[in-house]
Amino acid sequence: MIFDLMIKNVSLTDDIGEFDVACKDGKIVEIAKSILGDSKETIDAEGCLLSPPFIDPHFHMDATLSLGTPRLNVSGTLLEGISLWGELKPLQSIDDIISRAMQYCDLAVAKGIGAIRSHVDTCDDELKGVQALLEVREKVKGYLDLQLVAFPQDGVFRDPTALENTKRALDMGIDVVGGIPHFERTMSEGARSVNLLCEIAAERGLMVDMHCDESDDPMSRHVETLAFETKRLGLEGRVSGSHLTSMHSMDNYYVSKLIPLMAESQINVIPNPLINIMLQGRHDTYPKRRGQTRVRELRDAGLTVGFGSDCVMDPWYSLGKADMLDVAFMALHVGQLSSREDMGWCFDAVTKNSAKIIGLEEYGIEKGKPANFVLLQAKDKIEAIRLRAHRLLVVRGGLIISRSDPVKYTLHKPEGDIDFNEIN
Ligand code: FE2
Repeated sequence: MIFDLMIKNVSLTDDIGEFDVACKDGKIVEIAKSILGDSKETIDAEGCLLSPPFIDPHFHMDATLSLGTPRLNVSGTLLEGISLWGELKPLQSIDDIISRAMQYCDLAVAKGIGAIRSHVDTCDDELKGVQALLEVREKVKGYLDLQLVAFPQDGVFRDPTALENTKRALDMGIDVVGGIPHFERTMSEGARSVNLLCEIAAERGLMVDMHCDESDDPMSRHVETLAFETKRLGLEGRVSGSHLTSMHSMDNYYVSKLIPLMAESQINVIPNPLINIMLQGRHDTYPKRRGQTRVRELRDAGLTVGFGSDCVMDPWYSLGKADMLDVAFMALHVGQLSSREDMGWCFDAVTKNSAKIIGLEEYGIEKGKPANFVLLQAKDKIEAIRLRAHRLLVVRGGLIISRSDPVKYTLHKPEGDIDFNEIN
């Protein structure tokens, strides 16, 4: 057999040693210590890490790359971000959103992201973001899986037309039901919004992903309602709670009851470490609370945890570069996940855990699966996070869709030039 593509001498994420990976007709057809046979293209990875694609389970593509329009977020809070987004929405056209989203998708693919779950604001009677991102989903489908969440940003009860518009968005083909209970007017309205939106998802056979308890309020307890409704409606495994930052501030006794309920309901957990370490604790003096939910405890209770990037250069977050290794790096630090096992798990949280959360089928580097992977300039998962490793190759369906030269430094010393890179 003549292979289409052979990557020789790769390290794999969960196996010891070096392997060759051969691809044909868009699939991985062989993985072995040494594969004999010709290939149309052969690349020597020299021991670098071949990973399945990064997966971003939480993003806002309708707002991305809009930083500074019409103004900057001065306070740095979530609430000013929401109000700023409200100013931007009427100013932007469908074409503006498409153009920025396409630009972001190019960057994301080059950074090795293979799938993104993006929330899209449905509190707009024209549904401009929905129209734009449905078009983007179609445009990028050959090289990036884009899953869309109908997200009533201003509250499904607080905004008078949000419910109708959210249903319209789902009718138009949006994939997942979203919500924002902590932004409704009262705690009881928030709980009612969770009931209603979960019922809509159950009726339509859809997954749920709620922005839930994204606050420092220890009494914000919508995740309890989300877990309860998940169980009541038989949605186990299909529901995600995004952010869950209030859990950081909750009473420990209450959490000791809450986490088992979440585990029983098989709620997926999506912390967004870059943005929440920036947004949370803004009302604190010192000590300031960390903006991250109880990642270790949720993981140890058996819940699936995947880290999201949330925002890149928008009303909420002015940095970011579509780098899921930046996300893992921040989560690791904020969560003090510093053992070798924990650090390796942080890599899983931006790859296979997130693939599971968004329901991505045929994911992973295994014989018979689609030849989708990224070659990183690092030897293992921990080094990849440490270096936020350079992406040497991105392969989708057996085709190289992004390629870049290895990072190398040349030091000019008196005794002569030295070439080196950062790999151990
Ligand atoms: Fe978000």
